[in-house]
Amino acid sequence: MRFSATAAISAAALLAGTVSADAQSVISEASSSVSSAASDASSSVASSSTASLPELPTFTPTKLKADFLEQFTDDWEARWKPSHAKKDTKGSDKDEEWAYVGEWAVEEPHVYKGMEGDKGLVVKNAAAHHAISAKFPKKIDNKGKTLVVQYEVKLQNGLECGGAYLKLLRDNKALHQDEFSNVSPYVIMFGPDKCGSTNKVHLIINHKNPKTGEYEEKHLQTPPAARIVKTTELYTLIIHPNNTAIIKLNGEQVKEANLLEDFTPAFNPPKEIDDPKDKKPEDWVDTVRIPDPEAKKPEDWDEDAPFEVVDEEATMPEDWLEKEPLTIPDPEATKPEDWDDEEDGDWVAPTVSNPKCDDVSGCGPWTKPMKSNPEYKGKWTAPMIDNPEYKGEWAPRKIKNPDFFEDKHPSNLEPMGAIGFEIWTMQSDIMFDNIYIGHSIEDAAKFADETFNEKHPIEQLVELAEKPKVEDRPEAKSPNDLVFLDDPIHYIREKLDLFFAIAQNDPVQAIKFVPEAAAGLGAVAVTIIAIIAGIITMSGGSAAPQKVKKVAGDAKTAAADAKDKVAEAVSTGADSAKDAVNKRSTRSTGS
Ligand SMILES: *[C@@H]1O[C@H](CO)[C@@H](O)[C@H](O)[C@H]1NC(C)=O
Repeated sequence: MRFSATAAISAAALLAGTVSADAQSVISEASSSVSSAASDASSSVASSSTASLPELPTFTPTKLKADFLEQFTDDWEARWKPSHAKKDTKGSDKDEEWAYVGEWAVEEPHVYKGMEGDKGLVVKNAAAHHAISAKFPKKIDNKGKTLVVQYEVKLQNGLECGGAYLKLLRDNKALHQDEFSNVSPYVIMFGPDKCGSTNKVHLIINHKNPKTGEYEEKHLQTPPAARIVKTTELYTLIIHPNNTAIIKLNGEQVKEANLLEDFTPAFNPPKEIDDPKDKKPEDWVDTVRIPDPEAKKPEDWDEDAPFEVVDEEATMPEDWLEKEPLTIPDPEATKPEDWDDEEDGDWVAPTVSNPKCDDVSGCGPWTKPMKSNPEYKGKWTAPMIDNPEYKGEWAPRKIKNPDFFEDKHPSNLEPMGAIGFEIWTMQSDIMFDNIYIGHSIEDAAKFADETFNEKHPIEQLVELAEKPKVEDRPEAKSPNDLVFLDDPIHYIREKLDLFFAIAQNDPVQAIKFVPEAAAGLGAVAVTIIAIIAGIITMSGGSAAPQKVKKVAGDAKTAAADAKDKVAEAVSTGADSAKDAVNKRSTRSTGS
C-alpha cells in the first residue's frame, strides 16, 4: 500500500482542523516539561544549594531474591543485550537496514537525583527506536501463583510522545536477543505510553486460543493514566490466580480489573451467537407507536388560520410624524466647484437620514403592526397511540458458537523467558530501574522500600528546590511552549523539527501532534508575517519598516524552507508508509 503525497497533505490539512483541541491540551500538558538543557543547567545550580536538602542515601544492592531482579549493577551487560534486528520490511524491495539504532546506557540520573551511586538503564536517543532484552535465568511460569511485575520509570526529559513500557517475552527456544523486535512474541506488555493527549498505563496480555492455537492481544479496557513527571515513578502489576489484575502507581492501587470482564476483546468468546441464517420476517411489525387511525380532525379546527394578524386595536403613537420623510437631501452638501452641468448632469445633493425622526417613534405613513393570531392552530395531526400490531424488537435466534472455548484461568499466563524494552520515544533519557519479577507482593514492597521509597521523597524535594529556577529560563522551553510572536523564525524551525522527528516514526501521529506543521506552517507563516509587517508599517515610526522588512524576508526564507520540509516529511512519510504501518503495528500491538 502506497500513499500519494498529495493525499497525505490533504489528510494532514483535514486532521489539523479537527485535532487542534487535542493539540491545545498537549500544549498545556507539555508546559510542565522542560528540556534537558534547563535541567542540566539547574542541576548544577541546585548542587550548589543542596545544603538545605538531606544528604543522599547511598545505593546498596538488595539481598532480596526473585525470579528476576535487576538493579543495573556493574555486571548488567552479562544479562542485557541491545537488539540488532533488521527492519521488518517483508514485501518491500528496499535494502534492509538496522531498525534499532537507539543507544542504551547504564548511568546515574542527571535530573532530580535521589540516591548516590544508583544507576539505571537509560534510553539515550530522542526520536529513535530502541530495543534491549535480558533472558531470565529460567523460564517464569505463574500457573496457580500470583505474578508481580514491578519497575521504576524516570522521565528525565518529560514525555511528549513515546513509550516507557516493558514486555515479558514468551519463552521460546528461538529467542535470540540480537533479533528482539516489535514482532517478537510477548506475553505481557505493561507500563506508560503517551503521545499527545493519549496517556495510559498499558496492560496487554497475549492469550492463546486453545482451539486454533492462535494468539490474540487482550487490552485492559480502561487503563489508568501514567504520571508524566521527572521524578522516579514506580509501576506495579499484580495478577492473582483468581483472575484479578491490580495496577499500582507508587505503591497506591490505581486499578483493579477482572481478566474475564474488563479486557477487549474478551479472553473467552460468547457461548452463543446470533444465527447468521435467521432473517427478520417480512410481516414483522416493530413500529411501537402509530397515529390513531380512529381520530378525526375536529369540525372547528381551522388549518388555514394565519399565524399572525393585524393588531386592529393599535393606534398611531402621538409623536409619530406622518408628514416627515425618512430621508432628506444633505443640507451641508454643496455642489463641487468643478461640477460641469453639461457633462456631469444636474447636481443632486446626497440624502441623509432625517434628523427630525431621530427622537420620535417614527416618520412617514403609519400602518397597524401585526400580532400573533389567537385562532392559529396549524396543521391537524392525529394523536399517537400504541400500535396494536406491535410484536416487539426482532432479534435473530441464538445458536451455539462453533468457536466457543472457555479458559477459566486466563491468569495462568504462557511461560515467559525474557524481559525486553522495545520502544520509540520523542524524549531521550528515560530511565528504567529496580525491576522485580516474581511471586511475592511482600518482597516487591520490601524492594520498593529499599529503593523507590528511599529516593522518591528526596527527588521531590530536589524538584521543589529547583523549580523556580527552571521557570526563570524561557529560552530553555520545550517546542510546544514556544510563542509564535516571540520569535517567528525560531518558532517555525522548532515546530518543524518536532513534526519531522515524529513523522519519521509515524506520520499520522505527527500530524495530530504538530498540526501547525502539517497544515503547511510555511504558507501560514508568510501570511501572518505579512500582516504583522503591515500593521507595524502602518502604525510605526520611520525606523521600523527597514527592520520589519528584514524580519519578513528572513521569515519568508524560513517559511519556504519549512514548506519544503513539510512536503519532504510527508513524502518521506508516504514512501515509508509501509514501514510506518509495520512499526505502528508494534505500537498498536501496543496501543
Ligand atoms: C483475588 O485474590 C486476592 C488475593 O488472594 C484477594 O485479595 C482478592 O480479594 C481476590 N479478588 C476476588 C475478586 O476474589
